Amino acid sequence: MHRIPLIVGNWKMYKTAQEARTFIAALSPEIAGTDRRVLIAAPFTAIEGAGQAAKDTRILIGAQNMHDHPDGAYTGEVSASMLKSIGARFVILGHSERRLFFGEDNAFIRRKVLRALAEGLLPILCIGEQLHEREAGMHEEVLRVQLDACLHGLTQAQMSEVVIAYEPVWAIGTGKTATPDSAQEVHRFIRSFVEERFGSACSQKISLLYGGSVKPDNMAALMEQTAIDGVLVGGASLDVEAFAQIVNY
Ligand code: PGA
Repeated sequence: MHRIPLIVGNWKMYKTAQEARTFIAALSPEIAGTDRRVLIAAPFTAIEGAGQAAKDTRILIGAQNMHDHPDGAYTGEVSASMLKSIGARFVILGHSERRLFFGEDNAFIRRKVLRALAEGLLPILCIGEQLHEREAGMHEEVLRVQLDACLHGLTQAQMSEVVIAYEPVWAIGTGKTATPDSAQEVHRFIRSFVEERFGSACSQKISLLYGGSVKPDNMAALMEQTAIDGVLVGGASLDVEAFAQIVNY
């Protein structure tokens, strides 16, 4: 099945609203010819500005996190409907930095996935093993546990709306990338998990992204892998030139 390449920038805690507008205005002509899906996960405070700048372009703006409750006494948190009200179209959930630095566990991430689906925000669920788990040859087991816990109880219809990003933690921001072959192998494993649980039509429909030190010079080799449908890009998404090269690989 042909899945349109999906390229997602994750700006993390970079760019003010004004910087976001300037970036989008500079990026859109650079990628005007593409037929790929281009998404940018901006900081909360830059979503609205980036969304306005991205109007009439093919760039969609989303968030990097949200809370699982529709509202409530959760100081410092942001809900799905708040994100939608300022133009967010998708949300990254369970990024390893959320798991490592903010103690997010699979159960919490699962509730967020369900909330995003209920509110019509596209969830991009991140999973990935740490270095010691990879070195111990446990990565498939770790990924299986994450997938199982984060996707448990979803219907086939819900699962068809989820994007999964495989981001080996040891490859994020380190300049080390999984080799295209090993990323391909893990993506096959993930797709077979989805097939087992949700059926083959669903597993063929969903997009699986690779993330971890994706750069203009390794993009083409990653995208040559048939099981990789797109990428989640951190550092290289902060630079217009580099991100445009990745989109136009
Ligand atoms: P990186 O980040 O591209 O800087 O490695 C990827 C990510 O954290 O999503």
